[in-house]
Amino acid sequence: MTETDFIPSAYSKTLETGKVTWESPSNIALVKYWGKKENQIPANPSISFTLNNCKTITELSYRTKESDTDFSFEVYLDGEKKDDFKPKIETFLKRIHVYLPFLKNYHFKIETSNTFPHSSGIASSASGMSALALCFMSMEKQLKPKMTTNYFNQKASFLARLGSGSACRSLEGDIIVWGQTDAISGSSDLYGTKYPYQVHENFKDYQDTILLVDKGEKQVSSTVGHNLMHAHPYAENRFKQAHENLEKLKPILESGDLNKFIALMESEALTLHAMMMTSMPYFILMKPNTLEIINKIWSFRERTGLHIGFTLDAGANVHVLYPKKEANVILDFIKNELVAYCQNEQYICDQIGFGANQL
Ligand code: DP6
Repeated sequence: MTETDFIPSAYSKTLETGKVTWESPSNIALVKYWGKKENQIPANPSISFTLNNCKTITELSYRTKESDTDFSFEVYLDGEKKDDFKPKIETFLKRIHVYLPFLKNYHFKIETSNTFPHSSGIASSASGMSALALCFMSMEKQLKPKMTTNYFNQKASFLARLGSGSACRSLEGDIIVWGQTDAISGSSDLYGTKYPYQVHENFKDYQDTILLVDKGEKQVSSTVGHNLMHAHPYAENRFKQAHENLEKLKPILESGDLNKFIALMESEALTLHAMMMTSMPYFILMKPNTLEIINKIWSFRERTGLHIGFTLDAGANVHVLYPKKEANVILDFIKNELVAYCQNEQYICDQIGFGANQL
């Protein structure tokens, strides 16, 4: 598929007013997306576990309007009008308009809520942009009833990517690849695809306990961080390493080798933050408690031999990942020893999930 395959021919139906609702989850990358080219094309491939509990629920109401010169929409979060969300959505609409030419013919009311606290520092862009992309696709599906499910999913992921790169990995589950790489057949820069190879039992029901270390506004947005990879001294090696790590992950996912899995995942997390620390300007998103937690995880792992590991996003929060069969002991350890490092002792228990649902 290429970009032009997502530009529709004339619609066979018309729509007046209506409402569609989707819920879409967040995802956690194992091999990280960090660095992009124009038009939201990733500089390297990434792979993620889709989450199950951290979700955005978006209801899109639409009605036709007279003039079709501008976009017209209002946004609400938890019932409250959010004009500060508008610029990001306006940018999204501008990027996807060529693929959904009906957008200027409607006035939209976008009502959204998250299952996780908004100020938790958990990125809502992946779940939020994927939910909105799915709502628009449900409209297009009504305009083009013969659309196949495969096309619907691919185009929804394609559009979500134009809202936020990582969002294209949230629509389906349980393991999604985004970014063309020889390591993964069918992979594309344009949309996420399901990981196509065998996955060991160990990774079914994988747990992710998210420790909310710092809920404050990030001092550097992901978008700025991605851009800093452009003149970055280590960028080329990093992009190459991501391809190699995807290749290395295949036998690990197949054999269920948890020690190798943890080593690769933690190395990816620290490499992501190393890229931030070595860009110009440089920045640090980890907090002292992030490091306290990492050290505690390492000594607990050493002491018990249990398969607990961590990964990080572009922030201070720690995702603690472990197999379901070790969950009892590990969750006790998290509650007894790690939660004290969280802001207001807040954490979220999540696990690998299977993607978005229409409500
Ligand atoms: C660190 O998807 O938030 O979470 O495309 O600019 O919206 P934009 O960036 P975004 O970047 C997320 C990067 C990451 C790693 C990952 O999810 O792969």
